[in-house]
Amino acid sequence: RIEAVLFDLDGVLTDTAHAHYLAWKTLADEIGAPFDEKANEALKGVDRMGSLDLMLKKAPRAYDAAERQALADRKNGYYQKLIEGYGPQDLFPGAREALEACKAAGLKTALVSASRNAATLVQRLGIAELFDHVVDAGTIRRGKPDPETYLSAAAALGIDPVHCAGIEDAQAGIAGLLAARMYAVGVGDPAVLSSADAVVGGIDGLRWPRILSL
Ligand code: BG6
Ligand code: MG
Repeated sequence: RIEAVLFDLDGVLTDTAHAHYLAWKTLADEIGAPFDEKANEALKGVDRMGSLDLMLKKAPRAYDAAERQALADRKNGYYQKLIEGYGPQDLFPGAREALEACKAAGLKTALVSASRNAATLVQRLGIAELFDHVVDAGTIRRGKPDPETYLSAAAALGIDPVHCAGIEDAQAGIAGLLAARMYAVGVGDPAVLSSADAVVGGIDGLRWPRILSL
């Protein structure tokens, strides 16, 4: 029985997965590192420095800690520029409805994003008040695919992890949900998210009565 639904943000509720990709791609081009959408799949859900390390794997030279911090800051600047004008119009179709359906059914909701920009973004999208808990990415020691993000949300909600479902577009996210012993719903390509318990094409494809009957 599902008592809480944990929502990822980037790529699930709004199209920022693409904005993150564009920001990384700009940086990668500037330093001459090969990078494309396929390589980007591995970065989805992964925190900023972890993503940078993955992107730098094919860079023409090595970067020390101070340089890596500067590169991460530069990427975040590009990303913040891309989300500057975001508003409720940037929610994916069905995103607000999905959150409202959870509330109407008496389920708890949490935002389980790895992004340090998440709190700002949900404010701009106008959905902040629909979450019972928002995980602060800055307090997570081991990010996705580690289950810590999800377990901290379950603890904050006071719900046993086995009674939680999570909605994720990233391979790292599905892995983290399964490691937390939660029901893992993938949003995206079933071939990419093959380990999920269920996969839908987009958040508007979620049939809420079905989720509730799990
Ligand atoms: C995740 C995204 O939600 O947040 C990743 O899927 C991103 O692509 C990560 O790297 C961290 O985001 P931020 O905003 O803290 O750099
Ligand atoms: Mg995501």
